[in-house]
Amino acid sequence: MADYILPHSIPQEDERLTLMSRMLDPQLFFRLEQAGVAAGWRCLEVGAGNGSVSHWLAEQVGPGGHVVCSDIDTRFLSALEAPNLEVRRIDVTGDPLGEDYDLVLTRALLHHVPQRIDVLRRLAAAVRPGGVLVVEEPDFHPVLATDSPVLRDFWEGFLAWSANEGIDYFVGRRIAPQLAASGFEAVEAHGETILFAGRSLPARYLALTMRELEGELLSSGLVGKTTWAESMRLFDNEAFWTWQNCYVTTTARRPGSRRGAPAPPT
Ligand SMILES: C[S@@+](CC[C@H](N)C(=O)[O-])C[C@H]1O[C@@H](n2cnc3c(N)ncnc32)[C@H](O)[C@@H]1O
Repeated sequence: MADYILPHSIPQEDERLTLMSRMLDPQLFFRLEQAGVAAGWRCLEVGAGNGSVSHWLAEQVGPGGHVVCSDIDTRFLSALEAPNLEVRRIDVTGDPLGEDYDLVLTRALLHHVPQRIDVLRRLAAAVRPGGVLVVEEPDFHPVLATDSPVLRDFWEGFLAWSANEGIDYFVGRRIAPQLAASGFEAVEAHGETILFAGRSLPARYLALTMRELEGELLSSGLVGKTTWAESMRLFDNEAFWTWQNCYVTTTARRPGSRRGAPAPPT
């Protein structure tokens, strides 16, 4: 956990994860429905944060299904209660994941993990033949299309800092080619972004994230103090509109036939 840059011990991390769930859950739920999530499925979510997605999944799979909801730090998962939902502490880089799941899922995790290619292989191996892997990760290309020179300067500094830290904020585009090359079928990747105004939900989420990283960004010298302050003012300005980063949801099916349930749509 030491090398995770936004650990749950940061004050306000629970609030940041709540904003994240509100912002991203509808898109992911739609993609999961498209992937055919159904009653009776056995599911694994890794890096679950506050567990909002696992909670929804537990309702979809019903009493005959099962959801393993896991994170390296389970403190925000302790309030989750459903008879078919099991909370487990799993470090995705090394702990056993289990196997033979109908669905393996992660959102906003791989970009932080330096061993992301190996982790993607581990997640793929945990899916049963005919089962589904769903990976949603950011791709920051839209933020650089802002009309504000100050904000572009900010994002360029932020992205240079994250690359130095081993964070890949462009990983969203890399999942589909890797899964296709490894033999997964029906590979689809949909990226979605939002044109948002200051003070909106995405603006508050981004501002909170940046405030958690403020010390790191300023001390790196890659984001200047003035650029920082002006960018934070833009995130708080209801008249200012700009692009959020994109979140790419990749869905893919492991080759082979599924026992019992029908195959998801191709
Ligand atoms: C950006 S948050 C995303 C949370 C949640 N998936 C969501 O989208 O709302 C990243 C999550 O990954 C977890 N995490 C970080 N490193 C991990 C690891 N090595 N194994 C499992 N989880 C990890 C963090 O504790 C955190 O909950």
